[in-house]
Amino acid sequence: MKNILTIIYIIIILLTILISCNVTQSKEDKLFDPDFKLNISQLIAKQGYLVENHFATTKDGYIISLQRIPNGINNNNKKLFKSNDKKLKASVILQHGLEDIGTTWVFQEIRYQSLGFILADEGYDVWISNVRGTRYSNKHLKYNVNDDQYWDFSFDEMSEFDLPSMVDYIINVTGNNKVNYIGHSQGTTMGFIGFKEGSELSKKINTFFALAPVARVTHCKSPLFNFLVNLKFGLILKLFGVKSFLMDSPILRGFLIPSFCSITPIACTTSLGFITGWGENSNLNETRLPIILSQSPGGTSTKNIIHWSQNLKNEFQKFDYGSSHENFIHYSQSTPPKYNITNFSKTIPTIIFTGGKDLISTKEDYNWLIPQLNNLIYYKHIDSYSHLDFVWGNDAYKQVYTDILKYLLKYN
Ligand SMILES: *[C@@H]1O[C@H](CO)[C@@H](O)[C@H](O)[C@H]1NC(C)=O
Ligand SMILES: *[C@@H]1O[C@H](CO)[C@@H](O)[C@H](O)[C@H]1NC(C)=O
Ligand SMILES: *[C@@H]1O[C@H](CO)[C@@H](O)[C@H](O)[C@H]1NC(C)=O
Ligand SMILES: *[C@@H]1O[C@H](CO)[C@@H](O)[C@H](O)[C@H]1NC(C)=O
Ligand SMILES: *[C@@H]1O[C@H](CO)[C@@H](O)[C@H](O)[C@H]1NC(C)=O
Repeated sequence: MKNILTIIYIIIILLTILISCNVTQSKEDKLFDPDFKLNISQLIAKQGYLVENHFATTKDGYIISLQRIPNGINNNNKKLFKSNDKKLKASVILQHGLEDIGTTWVFQEIRYQSLGFILADEGYDVWISNVRGTRYSNKHLKYNVNDDQYWDFSFDEMSEFDLPSMVDYIINVTGNNKVNYIGHSQGTTMGFIGFKEGSELSKKINTFFALAPVARVTHCKSPLFNFLVNLKFGLILKLFGVKSFLMDSPILRGFLIPSFCSITPIACTTSLGFITGWGENSNLNETRLPIILSQSPGGTSTKNIIHWSQNLKNEFQKFDYGSSHENFIHYSQSTPPKYNITNFSKTIPTIIFTGGKDLISTKEDYNWLIPQLNNLIYYKHIDSYSHLDFVWGNDAYKQVYTDILKYLLKYN
């Protein structure tokens, strides 16, 4: 059975590569929702919110785009919480996951279903970040997206560079001493790696909310990673190219996956399904889904995809260059350094949400992770949830966001 699936994946991927070389566009015309062509800033503005576009430059030259929603609607001065400084609103960073994009937090038409709008209306200063390699953060001081050098990164660099840059930038602009951080999926990985005990960065984090937490992924059931896990990365690079992964593959998104998945649920209509699995997604809104699917996959490097698939075998560690010699050049040791949860902050209040149908953040892996956290304040398991329900679910506002508000209020 597994072999047959693997063969099917190979065929689909090869076909996709072949066909997408010739076909460049078309799908856009098929969808009529007026919001379909709006970018993240326009979607926010259309709902009546003020939106500011900001750019933070990382130490290694990447330009990270952030969208800020400084005020709620009809309650611009609302501030239920009491932050350190009475004049300041507490800032919250929303960090999307792998191949996702900031839009994930603001795409619902019903405002109370999107966390970005909920937080703004509750009086928080909302910052939505887009990591390097996504369609909104595709600039660099020296390279452009046609350069291989631009794509030479994985979640190692997002954690080491993107994360501190956005935090410092926000602290600088707002005057707050600390920020609250809410991550989904790879957004939580960045926190587990970046918020090291005793580090300057960890002192700037007031709370850490991890939705579908991901660190070790040895039990991950992602179809894509399981397909890639046994391939040499030289071959993967040949198959997919060094650069952006699955970002603009109209055939994959618009044709092959839907036909392949004609008997399965709507989550199947996205190539993100290749990563997150095509589980049950009864919480997703079919009507609204095209809006987010027009922006997700948000883009990432092939190297990042390879890194994730390596870690299905390798546990939680830095990118493996494939030979002791190459690893030595990068790390001064023959194997990639391991990430260790004992290095994660022992003081940042941490709040975790997991899902019973999640194929990425699996029971075996989060049960390994959670007991290692020193300051776990709250943990909630939602049996019916799969990986994307935490951001796209119609009822996430009931299942997840009310608890987020409760703990944000408590700590701000
Ligand atoms: C969205 O589009 C508008 C109009 O073209 C532009 O001003 C804005 O910068 C865009 N936002 C992002 C995040 O690219
Ligand atoms: C799904 O989205 C549409 C369009 O935004 C909305 O009218 C409808 O009420 C939503 N359905 C649910 C169950 O939230
Ligand atoms: C903080 O703001 C000042 C003044 O606008 C600027 O010169 C400095 O580079 C900023 N620092 C960071 C980390 O963004
Ligand atoms: C974890 O902490 C140990 C001891 O403080 C240190 O030697 C090691 O380099 C750290 N690992 C990472 C990945 O930061
Ligand atoms: C993590 O650190 C702890 C304490 O230093 C150590 O006992 C453990 O072996 C380390 N785990 C890994 C995977 O390096």
